[in-house]
Amino acid sequence: MSTRLKRLVFWSLFLLFVIDAAVIYTLGTENDSGKGFLSEEAKEGKLLFQKYNCISCHQIYGLGGYMGPDLTNVMSTSGKGELYVKSFIQNGTQRMPDFQLNEKEINALTEYLRYVDKTGISPVINFEIEYDGTITQKSNQ
Ligand code: HEC
Repeated sequence: MSTRLKRLVFWSLFLLFVIDAAVIYTLGTENDSGKGFLSEEAKEGKLLFQKYNCISCHQIYGLGGYMGPDLTNVMSTSGKGELYVKSFIQNGTQRMPDFQLNEKEINALTEYLRYVDKTGISPVINFEIEYDGTITQKSNQ
């Protein structure tokens, strides 16, 4: 290969590298790193969740207290969902306090739990590794 051709190949690759790096390091930097998923109502719910310390008894993404159940997917679990969640928050139980919340607060907490449900799975799904290296999901129930 002539020196001229080698130089051409080198500089072409170098140019491609520069373009690639420029695209990668500038694309999507204006993203709000997921904060946009959280609606105003869900944000209020998150603050209420912190204010009433729900996490002292409940887990989200598997982390928190263990007196009550994990709430990560309570909104999408079959047999549970919005009305189920609201009735717990509104009335409490023998073991869960009734926080005397108004409708707006209950709706906000429900919205927050809806957001949480979309962002994670808990408990972690069991995966099984197949003979060809692919994985299949095993149901937890
Ligand atoms: C003192 C502990 C405690 C606190 C604080 C608490 N909970 Fe609970 N919660 C429980 C227990 C325990 C249960 C399970 C029902 C039972 O055994 O009475 C429960 C059940 C629930 C359920 C139904 C879950 C399911 O999968 O069946 C929801 C929803 C819930 N709580 C939401 C909340 C929210 C929202 C807060 C904060 C505003 C909160 N809880 C604060 C103890 C608590």
